[in-house]
Amino acid sequence: MTFSFLPAGTSLCVLGVESSCDETGVALYDTGRGLLAHALHSQIALHAQYGGVVPELASRDHIRRVVPLLRQTLADAQTSLASVDAIAYTQGPGLAGALLVGCAFAEGLAAALDKPVLPIHHLEGHLLSPLLASDPPEFPFVALLVSGGHTQLIAVEGVGRYRLLGETLDDAAGEAFDKTAKLLGLPYPGGAALSRLAEAGRPDVYHFPRPMLHSGDFNFSFAGLKTAVLTRVRQATDPEDPAFRADVALAFQTALTEVLVKKAFAALKHTRQKQLVVAGGVGANRALRAALDHEAQKRDCRVYYPALEFCTDNGAMIAFAGALRLAAGFSPKSAGAFSARPRWPLQELMPD
Ligand code: KG4
Ligand code: ZN
Repeated sequence: MTFSFLPAGTSLCVLGVESSCDETGVALYDTGRGLLAHALHSQIALHAQYGGVVPELASRDHIRRVVPLLRQTLADAQTSLASVDAIAYTQGPGLAGALLVGCAFAEGLAAALDKPVLPIHHLEGHLLSPLLASDPPEFPFVALLVSGGHTQLIAVEGVGRYRLLGETLDDAAGEAFDKTAKLLGLPYPGGAALSRLAEAGRPDVYHFPRPMLHSGDFNFSFAGLKTAVLTRVRQATDPEDPAFRADVALAFQTALTEVLVKKAFAALKHTRQKQLVVAGGVGANRALRAALDHEAQKRDCRVYYPALEFCTDNGAMIAFAGALRLAAGFSPKSAGAFSARPRWPLQELMPD
């Protein structure tokens, strides 16, 4: 990624802080040298015993982790806070208490250092994250955002210029993975575990519905798919049977993947784009990647993925989104008054 807006020889160093859900992430991105360092703490083990994220525990853990993660990031980058030019943080959407920790930390630090801040939309972080790669896509492109909380198809025209093409009307893709995994007795968050279980499944033993496949728009619905799995599990003579569980996992993953792939390529056709960017935790799913790549080859299109470590929540994508916003001419704000935005539609980022 080149930052040609800056005079030759100068660069800006952006500190990024992510705390919207159950991962605390801190990173340093330099417009001249790229990603200098990033550190992450996942709360999966903390929440696993409850079968899902407990918001109050999440907030408290972010408080505990964020300073050590900052120290680690600075040490790994072999630099100090003096080199930071601006601080980007996730302002929303997400869990209110969890967001507040990152907002307060970033704003407080920026006030102490007398540096400006860049409040970042979490989904913007995800959908720009594939641009962190060494061979990034170019604007414009279509983004398929598939995370635990969102499933959206977005036309990305440039930094801060996003047009929502369609989204899920009920459960997000990751949520459907997690709920189905729970039904199959897998620990939270079940997405990755379910996809591993599916590897042992036999194709075409079960067939689940492909919701809204022919709806003619770019919206999704995954709640019915989860219910279909529940009905199948209830009818089973031995729901614990490993072969049965693997076959169900594969049939679920195949159904969900087929809908995502069909709609993503319909969105490419609709917008006359050739580049699809996949972002969010479900983008780590191997079967989804294989199906998207297969379809792309047939249609002379290309699919871009963030590196696996940047698919799920992380601080690097927030620092990077902050740097890209600066590069695109968006002004940072001065540190001080702030608010978290637990509900924040991505479309609100569009300039008037
Ligand atoms: O983007 P993310 O880290 O957090 C949100 O912003 O939601 O996404 C987390 C979601 C979870 O639902 C998790 O189960 C799912 O991504 N996930 C996967 C895989 N890895 C993570 N789902 C399917 N297959 C995977 N390999
Ligand atoms: Zn996320």
